[in-house]
Amino acid sequence: MKIFHSAKEFKNYTKNLRGSIGFVPTMGALHDGHMSLVRRAKEENDFCVVSIFVNPTQFLPGEDLSKYPRRIEADTKLCELAGVDALFLPTLEEMYEEDEPSIKAPKINGYVLEGFVRPGHFDGVLTVVMKLLNISSATKAYFGQKDAQQLILIEQMVKRYFMDVEIVACPTIREKEGLAMSSRNVYLDEEQKKASLAISKSLFAAGTMVGAGELDTAKIEARMREELAGLDVEYITFCDRNLGKQEKIELKNSIVLVAAKVGATRLIDNIWI
Ligand code: PAF
Repeated sequence: MKIFHSAKEFKNYTKNLRGSIGFVPTMGALHDGHMSLVRRAKEENDFCVVSIFVNPTQFLPGEDLSKYPRRIEADTKLCELAGVDALFLPTLEEMYEEDEPSIKAPKINGYVLEGFVRPGHFDGVLTVVMKLLNISSATKAYFGQKDAQQLILIEQMVKRYFMDVEIVACPTIREKEGLAMSSRNVYLDEEQKKASLAISKSLFAAGTMVGAGELDTAKIEARMREELAGLDVEYITFCDRNLGKQEKIELKNSIVLVAAKVGATRLIDNIWI
């Protein structure tokens, strides 16, 4: 596996590859959610490249940038074992200059849900993803449905900026009991992990209700709130695949999203119906 720290050298490598490139951008602390993206990228492409970069511009002041888990050695091993062709590990200086153009998140969809709680977060996400897509010369780039709003905004950016890359949405990978995998799960102690299961339980309850024919989001939300009773819920939202709010579930066009705090840790999860 090749390892690059320089954006110029990585770009030079990717643009000279002969064949399709599957790209998995990450912030590291890799878990099976990430590795499922890597497996899919390998299956569907001639080459698979991965980036690890804890992107400071998507963290708000006071968020967990400094304590975000960093495990470069273990992550490098995982990528090597998974058969990744090249790993991009840029420094901050490789990715950003003091004064440079940046991408802005849409004024509405970038400032609801996660963007409402974390205003400006998606400016940073879209800016770094634009850079990474360009540097990786990706044919297809792989993102998890767990970060639903991020995925949708990236799809919209790629479409509206006429970018030549296909965004592939991949299902959320869960731990045995249901907790959606996330690098931030390491912040949870055993008690908090148990408490956090209420989030996936509430989503599964919503899925069961829809399966039984219930499409009224008010009724589904009431049931979800029962499951979530012990947690500090930030939002429960029902929206379509463009983040438009829904009063009624539309099969194959609905996402049920939850954000809740367990102790000091914010967790998000969703199901696509
Ligand atoms: O989902 C993430 O890990 C990050 O937001 C991403 C897409 C790698 C951009 O920094």
